[in-house]
This record gives sequence, C-alpha cells and structure tokens, in this order.
Amino acid sequence: MQLGILYGISVGTGDPELITLKGLRWLQQCPIVAFPAGLGDRPGIAQQIITTWLKPQQTTLTLNFPYVQDESILVSAWQQAAQQVWDYLKQGQDIAFACEGDVSFYSTFTYLAQTLQELHPEVIIKTVPGVCSPMAIASALQIPLTIRSQRLAILPALYTINELETALDWAEVVVLLKVSSVYQQVWQILHQRKLLAHSWIVEKATFPEQKIYRNLARYPRLQLSYFSLLLVKASDI
Ligand SMILES: C[S@@+](CC[C@H](N)C(=O)[O-])C[C@H]1O[C@@H](n2cnc3c(N)ncnc32)[C@H](O)[C@@H]1O
Repeated sequence: MQLGILYGISVGTGDPELITLKGLRWLQQCPIVAFPAGLGDRPGIAQQIITTWLKPQQTTLTLNFPYVQDESILVSAWQQAAQQVWDYLKQGQDIAFACEGDVSFYSTFTYLAQTLQELHPEVIIKTVPGVCSPMAIASALQIPLTIRSQRLAILPALYTINELETALDWAEVVVLLKVSSVYQQVWQILHQRKLLAHSWIVEKATFPEQKIYRNLARYPRLQLSYFSLLLVKASDI
C-alpha cells in the first residue's frame, strides 16, 4: 500500500485568513487533521485557528506536546505523537498537521517530523510556509519590521539577560519571543538603555483579543499571555 503524506501546514498567527491558498487546499483535502492539544480541556491554538476551515467528514487528531523542559518527557511525547501519526500514514491516509504561525519557525512540527523520520525513514513529509509572529506583529503595529540595511535579531526566548544585551549591541531591530516570563528583567534592560519608548509588546497578534502595548515606560509590570512578543527598534535608520 502507498504511504500517506504528512503535510505541515502553517496556519498563521491567529486570524484564520492568514493561511496561504496552498495551505488551505492541503488542509481541506486531508482526511485527517492533527494539531497540538491545548492546555487543560481547552482547544489548542492551531485548532482554534482552523476550526472554520474544517469539513464535517474530516477526522481530527489531537497530539500531546507537554509544555515542559524535561528532555526525556519531551522525547517520549514526540515518539508517542509520531506513532499516532504513523498509524494513519501506513494505512495510506494523508495527515495535515496545523501549525500556529509558520511551520519552520520554532515550531513543534519540527520535532514531530524529525522523530517520524528517525523511526520511519521512508515517511514523506511536505510543508507549506506561512505568516510567522514577527511579521504578524509588524502588521498589527502598522510599521515595517526592518528597513534599509537594518539588522534583525530574533531571540526565541531569553535564557540569560546577556543574550538581550548582545542582540541590542548588534542589531537595530530586536524581536524577543516568549517574553511573558522574563518581562520585568527585560523592562529593566530597556529602561537602562533608554529604549522603552522604542519598544512594543503585542499579545495574541491577529486574534480578536489582540492587545498592543506602546511606550513600555508606562508598563514596568505586565501579566502577559504566552502568545506575546516584544519588538525593539534600537534605531530608526
Ligand atoms: C514556540 S514559538 C512559535 C512560533 C510560531 N511558529 C510562529 O511562526 O510565530 C511561540 C512564541 O511565538 C510568539 N507568538 C506566536 N504567535 C503569536 C501571536 N499570535 N502573537 C504574539 N506572539 C506570538 C510568542 O512569543 C510565543 O511565545
């Protein structure tokens, strides 16, 4: 029997219309649609984004990717998810995996795909690019992300504060993902560098509940959701 194909589909950062035509076509033509589970009983973020596009005859497959740092727990979850996906692929059924933002940009899909390739090298995987969060926040703020010869530094998270210092020394534009848990430390650095007026936080960009915080001098403390991102424009030129 011919193997099914695993499609990694970028579904955008919140607004369901931020999906490409190709992504939508592939999403709707797969009999199985997979996505990461949400927290508790809540639907996952990618699931929420694609709900309007799903057809009644499509089967949904929720995969568990725990929000933990422990490598052994993560590896075991990736293996379990890979097995669940493989069960359909080996029967010749195609699967669309919906990925929040872009599939190649700090995405859970990468771990699933790598694990699947290790366990079953014959697997066929295709991906569709899309809108990732730095692009989405630039649009939310109605400013260009970068202009002219500006250097852009993207930090996936902040493990030590030095990383932010180094990025600010090097780049004119800095984007920090996963800012929620380190916001107060980051605020102090921006304060010392007199960059608070040139910094923005966008929470849940392109979702109906999107929130924008401008001029961070007014916000030394913020309770932010995980889906928040910091943009710093260290120079206008
Ligand atoms: C694991 S990364 C996933 C990135 C995603 N694949 C993308 O293309 O943007 C999660 C981080 O991306 C950022 N993020 C993703 N979607 C966002 C959104 N709609 N609004 C603000 N930040 C977002 C947040 O900083 C969040 O902590």
